[in-house]
Amino acid sequence: MIKVVDLHSTLKGQKVLDGVNLEVKKGEIIALIGKSGVGKSVLLKHITGLMKGERGSVFIDGEDITKCRGRKLEKLREKIGFLFQGGALFDSYTVYDNVAFPLREKTKMSEEEIRKRVLYELEQVGLSGMEHKYPAELSGGMRKRAALARCMVMEPEIMLFDEPTTGLDPLTARQINQLIQKTYERKHFTGIIISHDIPEVFSLVHKVAMIHEGKIVFYGRPEEIFECDHPAVKEFIEAAMEGAKTQIGVRNGG
Ligand SMILES: Nc1ncnc2c1ncn2[C@@H]1O[C@H](COP(=O)(O)OP(=O)(O)OP(=O)(O)O)[C@@H](O)[C@H]1O
Ligand SMILES: [Mg+2]
Repeated sequence: MIKVVDLHSTLKGQKVLDGVNLEVKKGEIIALIGKSGVGKSVLLKHITGLMKGERGSVFIDGEDITKCRGRKLEKLREKIGFLFQGGALFDSYTVYDNVAFPLREKTKMSEEEIRKRVLYELEQVGLSGMEHKYPAELSGGMRKRAALARCMVMEPEIMLFDEPTTGLDPLTARQINQLIQKTYERKHFTGIIISHDIPEVFSLVHKVAMIHEGKIVFYGRPEEIFECDHPAVKEFIEAAMEGAKTQIGVRNGG
């Protein structure tokens, strides 16, 4: 469903993607992990066609998005729901209007049909009764939920999540991950989740890909990453697991 082939991208003279190859099969979810600044968000933006590299291809359902322009690019993009790192809601729109926006823009649905869809999606993410609030009146977790509802309302075949839980408390983070899981069980989309929730995110995905120095240095099932002897992968996973343990140490030992 998604196939990235030898993708190279240089931003402001800095080589960010240096021959990325990655495949996500239809109905699979993968976790994209790696150090901060390594190019995870940049890779997602290439997959949606928001950014263009200097070399390589990105196939979406067999169609190379790097070669698409105009109406064709728009059509291809409609298959993709993108949950941006910051949520990216429209501040001057209510929650209701934010979620209704893609339906009003991209479909010929009547306001009555739109109303049904929007209220349904808001119920799914636990935001019933919040439709008249503005993003500034919501908590961080609620904003993520609203953004998720806005992605889901178009029922995209592909869902890309850029750090859906970063900045949330552990319980809310878990709820958002469960919400993604629940949505997946309902829709069976093809997905990529960028996440620093290691190892929690592993229980949500079929495969894990780690990016390092512009390349995918690990791709495999979550449990296989613990056996990987690539030094960068080892160091990253050890640090992530150590981080989880240290937090427990602090809580116990004070
Ligand atoms: N629009 C842009 N113009 C120039 N450089 C950019 C642009 N977007 C990202 N970069 C650079 O590309 C590199 C990768 O950034 P990216 O946002 O993909 O990191 P990331 O892996 O998502 O990190 P984080 O985990 O902190 O979100 C960084 O060095 C960043 O400064
Ligand atoms: Mg990022």
